[in-house]
Amino acid sequence: METKQESRISPRNGRRVILFPLPFQGHINPMLQLGSILYSKGFSITIIHTKFNSPNSCNYPHFDFHSISDGLTDPSAEDSTTILITLNAKCMVPFRNCLAKLVSNTNNNNAQEDSVACLITDFLWQFTHVADEFKLPTIILQTHSVSGYLGIAAYPFLRDKGYVPIQDPQSESPVIEYPPLRVKDIPKLETRYPEYNYPLVSAMVNNIKASSGMIWNTFEELEQAALSTLPEEYSGIPVFPIGPFHKYFPASSSSLLSQDQSSISWLDKQAPKSVIYVSFGSVAAINETEFLEIAWGLANSRVPFLWVVRPGLVDGVEWLEALPRGYLEMADGRGYIVQWAPQQQVLAHPAVGGFLTHSGWNSTLESICEGVPMICQPCLADQMVNARYVSHVWRVGLHLEGKLEKKEIETAIRRLMVEAEGQEMRERITCLKKNVDACLRQGGSSHQALGRLVDHILSF
Ligand code: UDX
Repeated sequence: METKQESRISPRNGRRVILFPLPFQGHINPMLQLGSILYSKGFSITIIHTKFNSPNSCNYPHFDFHSISDGLTDPSAEDSTTILITLNAKCMVPFRNCLAKLVSNTNNNNAQEDSVACLITDFLWQFTHVADEFKLPTIILQTHSVSGYLGIAAYPFLRDKGYVPIQDPQSESPVIEYPPLRVKDIPKLETRYPEYNYPLVSAMVNNIKASSGMIWNTFEELEQAALSTLPEEYSGIPVFPIGPFHKYFPASSSSLLSQDQSSISWLDKQAPKSVIYVSFGSVAAINETEFLEIAWGLANSRVPFLWVVRPGLVDGVEWLEALPRGYLEMADGRGYIVQWAPQQQVLAHPAVGGFLTHSGWNSTLESICEGVPMICQPCLADQMVNARYVSHVWRVGLHLEGKLEKKEIETAIRRLMVEAEGQEMRERITCLKKNVDACLRQGGSSHQALGRLVDHILSF
């Protein structure tokens, strides 16, 4: 039987695209979704990936996977920024060698092999310009929102203007040059190696300036203003806002952790729009005190909750050990906790009425696509900017701005889930959801941008 995806597949076009995802969940998901989109447009797909967090190739039998060594000895002992630094230092040679082999295979055997059209690489890889040696054009995949990216790219400017290093992380003062950001919304780039921030940002910007295009997992109607303020230095680089990627195909199969399907059977028993879903994504970590504040905020809100507690979410704790014995009973059985959920299915479930999120870009976009208003508790990087846009520009969520405290959480949950204010946000986000449906339809903005992207790649 033909699947929904196969029924939308174009004939093969004889061209191959090589994709190189950054090995973190929030980056792997959009890159593999993009692979599926381009496959459906007739391109053959090759994925070069690190051994660390390697994607499950069985879920993509039509893609060609190549693994490279990454130099990581004990990634579980490192934070994500340290891993990023190591990967950028150690992967260049294996990546170059792998690329050389792939390009020469197609050149030497051109009757049977699709010719390689280009490399599509994550914007946080710093060495992918080695593709120039093989005369291979590079397109950059931006996995952040446009506004989130601009907030990070502004770092050198913000330093020159004296905004960073941030003196008062709670400061409400506006960043005059970057409305609507306040000092407290400037992306937090906390790392053991702060001296690394500026080289990282300048490598990122230089890679983009040297690229043959930028693909964004966003859509024009949502980020028109930010797209129109892309700096002059990028002018001439074609821009393709073709998102939201995950809406092109029904289910995502690039999850690194197994998704607990019992979340869905639990949701099936709940009333429509009654449940607050809680997840902080794949990277953010909180301390034990913050974890307990969330636990009591949820319990005291008296609203049913589905809570993703990822192993590693709480510093120094394996999983739920910090919760008091009998916690779920104390919450009157209104709560359900899993290690990892099928998030897109959860957000699309009729029982879900709100999302307490760390404001990662994938989570934000997935919530918008399902019309689920948010409570934002950003932890780092672009998440600060996303939270500001959700609460202040699109006005489809609340922003927890102070310390993570149970009373604040309880109040925010009740404002979102029970009070009229939450209903207004739900109505606004339902309008955004309609824009999503329209942008993906024939002639919609993302549909058109995808058409331009396909022509662009075929022109190489
Ligand atoms: C990271 C950054 O934190 C984020 O700010 C950036 O924009 C992308 O990289 P992450 O923290 O993991 O990503 O957050 P997010 O972007 O929201 O991505 C998480 C992904 O994991 C989503 O696609 C979500 O659907 C999926 N997920 C999350 C699950 O499949 N199950 C879960 O239980 C939780």
